[in-house]
Amino acid sequence: MTDPRIADALEREHREIDAGLAEFTAALDGGEWRTQPLLDAAAALRRHIYIEEEMLFPALRAAGLWGPVAVMLREHGEIWSALDELEEVAGEQVSDDNARQVYRRLAALLEIHNDKEEAILYPQSDTVVDEATRSRIEHYLEHSTLPPGWTCQALA
Ligand SMILES: [Fe+2]
Ligand SMILES: [Fe+2]
Repeated sequence: MTDPRIADALEREHREIDAGLAEFTAALDGGEWRTQPLLDAAAALRRHIYIEEEMLFPALRAAGLWGPVAVMLREHGEIWSALDELEEVAGEQVSDDNARQVYRRLAALLEIHNDKEEAILYPQSDTVVDEATRSRIEHYLEHSTLPPGWTCQALA
């Protein structure tokens, strides 16, 4: 097994994205609309979903994990929509309460989704992914942004 593991890198991204989103509401609690951490976390989350759907999930499906992958794809659709909504309310800067409510909905979706990925899908990832796919994932994690216009499969 090559080091670092894909599972570790993706789990680390879950934590970083959670922290970035939480920074937005922490700033709200201090009376400040600080949207940059949210925008950065949103971009990271969309790219994270892209990497999963375009690179990791096909390998997991080929290994027989059709059911769990189908659930993750559906949840990505819900997460993507909640994220759209959060970016919108953050940009409008109208209601703190509404922004917090939308944030809490997204955070709840992410918690359930990430726990499942980390328990069921990620443990398989380093055994099912071939070297070419591993390099591609590592490249995207390090250097790349979401291709323009890409949307998760559930909403495409
Ligand atoms: Fe995911
Ligand atoms: Fe994930």
